[in-house]
Amino acid sequence: MDDLSFKTDSSFDYSPYSERDTQPTSTLTRAAKKKTGDAFPAMLNKIYRGDCLTGMKRIPDGSIDAIITDPPYGIAKAKSFKSNSHGGFSALDASWDIFASKEAYCEFSRQWLTEAHRILKPNGSIAVWGSKVSIFDIKPIMDDLFPKFLDLLTWVKRDSPPNMTQRGLAPSTEFALIYCKAETGWVFNHNDIKKYNGGKQARNYIDIQRTMPSAERTGHPTQKKIETQQFLVEMLSNKNEIVFDPFIGSGTAAAAAKHLQRRYLGFERCPEYFSIANKRIKMTEVAS
Ligand SMILES: C[S@@+](CC[C@H](N)C(=O)[O-])C[C@H]1O[C@@H](n2cnc3c(N)ncnc32)[C@H](O)[C@@H]1O
Repeated sequence: MDDLSFKTDSSFDYSPYSERDTQPTSTLTRAAKKKTGDAFPAMLNKIYRGDCLTGMKRIPDGSIDAIITDPPYGIAKAKSFKSNSHGGFSALDASWDIFASKEAYCEFSRQWLTEAHRILKPNGSIAVWGSKVSIFDIKPIMDDLFPKFLDLLTWVKRDSPPNMTQRGLAPSTEFALIYCKAETGWVFNHNDIKKYNGGKQARNYIDIQRTMPSAERTGHPTQKKIETQQFLVEMLSNKNEIVFDPFIGSGTAAAAAKHLQRRYLGFERCPEYFSIANKRIKMTEVAS
C-alpha cells in the first residue's frame, strides 16, 4: 500500500460516522477492526492513486454505505478509443480497458466485486455501470455475491451519434446493475430522485443528454455525465454517508458525492486521470 499517494480535499468537515454505522457489522472481526478500522476515518474525502485491488484491502469490512462505479467495460480489445464519450477525440490511453480474454475480464471483475461485497455495510448498495455486453458478464458474478438484485437502470442518451456502418442500431444506452448486500433495509430515497423525472416517480431509466458543457469536460475518454452519478448517489445514500468508487476516472462519482454532502473515497490507477480527478473534486462546490 505504500505506493498509494493521495491528496487531501478537506474543504468541508464531516462527523466521522453516519447513522448506518450504528447498525451491527457482524462480519467485522475484532482483529480486522484493529488492523484497519482505526485509520479508516482519516482515509475519507480523499482519492488515492493506485490499483483498487490493492487499495480496497485497506478498507475495513462493512464500512461503506454505497459503491457507485463505472469499471472497465472490456470493450477496447480491437481498437483504442477513437472518440470520447462526449463526442470529441481523445488521445488518452485506454489500455486499462483491454483484457486478454473474456475469462480474464470476468476474473478481474470477480476479484474487485468480492472486495466490494466485503467492504459494504450489511445493508449497503452497489451500482455498477456497464455496456450491453459487459452487464451480461458482470450480472452472474453479482448474482453470486449479492442477495438482492434491486434494479437495472438504463441511461438513455438521445443525442448519441449515428451508427456509421448502418449495419446495426445506433448505441444510445448504458446500464447500471444495482444490488443490495441484504434482502431488506437498503436506502432508497424515492422523493429525492423525483426531480430527475420532472417531479414524478423515478423510472428505471434516466433520460439525460450525453453532451457535456465544456466546463464539465475533463478529457477523460469515458467520463460520465455528472447527473448520472448524482442520480445514483441521491438514490442510494443519505447525507454524510460514505460513497466509494474503485474506478474514479475523472472523479465524477466522488464529485457528485461531495456536491451532495456525502463522504467519498476512491482509487485511480492512471496518474494522469488521478490528477484530473483530484483537481476536479477540489473545485467541486458543496450544495447548500
Ligand atoms: C470507465 S473509467 C471511469 C470513468 C469515470 N466514471 C468518469 O466519469 O470519469 C474506468 C477508470 O478506471 C481506471 N482503472 C482501471 N483499472 C483500474 C484498477 N485496477 N484500479 C484503479 N483504477 C483502475 C481507469 O484508468 C479508468 O480511468
